[in-house]
Amino acid sequence: MQLDQRADAVMEALRGYFDSAARSEGQTIRQSPAAEILEALDAEAGLRDGFSADGWARFAERYLSYVTRLHDPRYMAHQSAVTNFGGFAGGVLDTAVNNPMAIYEMGPAAAALEVFVLNWMIEKVGWTPMPVPPQSAEPGSYAGGVLTHGGSLAQLTALLAARAHSAPESWEEGVSDDLVLLVPEEAHYSAKRAGAILGLGAKSVRALPADADMRVDPDRVPGFVESLIDDGKRIMAIVGNAGCTSAGLYDPLDEIGQFCNAEGHWFHVDGAHGGSALLVERLKPLMRGLERADSMIWDGHKLLRAPSLCAAVLVKDHRTLDGAFAQDASYLFHEKDNPGVDFLGRSVECTKAGLSLRLFATLATEGERAIGDYIDSRTQLAVDAAQLIDTEPDFEVAIRPETNIVCFAYSPHEDQLTIRNALIQDGDFYITTTEYRGRRWLRFALMNPDTTLDQVRAVLDRIRSVAKGLSEASATGA
Ligand SMILES: Cc1ncc(COP(=O)(O)O)c(C=O)c1O
Repeated sequence: MQLDQRADAVMEALRGYFDSAARSEGQTIRQSPAAEILEALDAEAGLRDGFSADGWARFAERYLSYVTRLHDPRYMAHQSAVTNFGGFAGGVLDTAVNNPMAIYEMGPAAAALEVFVLNWMIEKVGWTPMPVPPQSAEPGSYAGGVLTHGGSLAQLTALLAARAHSAPESWEEGVSDDLVLLVPEEAHYSAKRAGAILGLGAKSVRALPADADMRVDPDRVPGFVESLIDDGKRIMAIVGNAGCTSAGLYDPLDEIGQFCNAEGHWFHVDGAHGGSALLVERLKPLMRGLERADSMIWDGHKLLRAPSLCAAVLVKDHRTLDGAFAQDASYLFHEKDNPGVDFLGRSVECTKAGLSLRLFATLATEGERAIGDYIDSRTQLAVDAAQLIDTEPDFEVAIRPETNIVCFAYSPHEDQLTIRNALIQDGDFYITTTEYRGRRWLRFALMNPDTTLDQVRAVLDRIRSVAKGLSEASATGA
């Protein structure tokens, strides 16, 4: 590989992209037809003949003109990280050397960093970190983990460990029809999907009782579980949300955890989004009871700012994860004379990117305190935004935010989806919608570190004006 003027051209194009996104030049989201994009990119010619150095410069510039600009402060849509320099540098280093590091010999630097960042997370949770080889590891109850390509795969991996614990025969025999997985009403679909993939059947993924805000209602959990057991069901795992996707709310983890620990049920916490509250002293109480969990997922590529994909599966006892993919667990550290760690036995993936580098480099750009400050400031901005929206007579807020997610509605207009679609057409601001408490809401996920209340005020004004346009169009039958 040669880093010649093509690399300079790509860097130059990226410089231009970052500068113009930060200044909010152009659109945040631009939904051009796929055929137009392929033509503009000269995709046919590139594939056929390869790009010249000039072709590369043109390609990079044009490609960047069609991307969705997360680095524009008007980006307030999905929970994807707005990356910093470290994410960029880590991604470049990782893809350049291409060390698929699931076995140590194929990527010792990435594998060593994976142990390091997992232990950093484990310590935040309050569990016992893994020993770092060559330190000898006696079999015992220290924690474990693995980084996966995304939260959905992390969810599947953690729930596989739950299945191995609660129904160990499943690996050999398949899954019996008495097994149920209990998830919050507001569970991310990856939890339900994992249950179906693990062979329970979607019907055996049951929703836990919820309170009026759609948090798990811990007072009704024991009765609900008891009635399932009376019906002959076996509980595979009980899941709690640390930040649900729709409104960002935290379930009462301590109460659910106490019940699970007392009754011997596997307790899994989905902290893909909200796990990052562990970095902020004033937000940590939201995670109270997390240490009672048997497993947890926590995405690096959401509030920790790492580039996609990078998610962690963490387990309180490493043996549960080591045993998840086969019943005769061969413990990672004892298997062979290895100066490091083979992660192969802990993950669905065989070939695995150096995900740790993306997360480590992101954190190491400014240090963990700065990432904590970022999470704190995005959460505070969500609270401030909700307060601002609440004072506007034509808007309504669904619930006080607990993380950087705000659900709200433009009251005079019934159809929030149409408003959002019109806003996307417009392209300056990018927000999403969600279903929550049986209604559709507009939704901000305030991920960009440079978004302020000015952008929030501006998007409210733009919502008013697109809604007015929609009403006028429907009045004139246009
Ligand atoms: C709470 C929660 N869990 C799991 C996931 C799935 O994570 P990923 O998008 O990394 O697959 C998401 C995604 O938004 C989420 O919000």
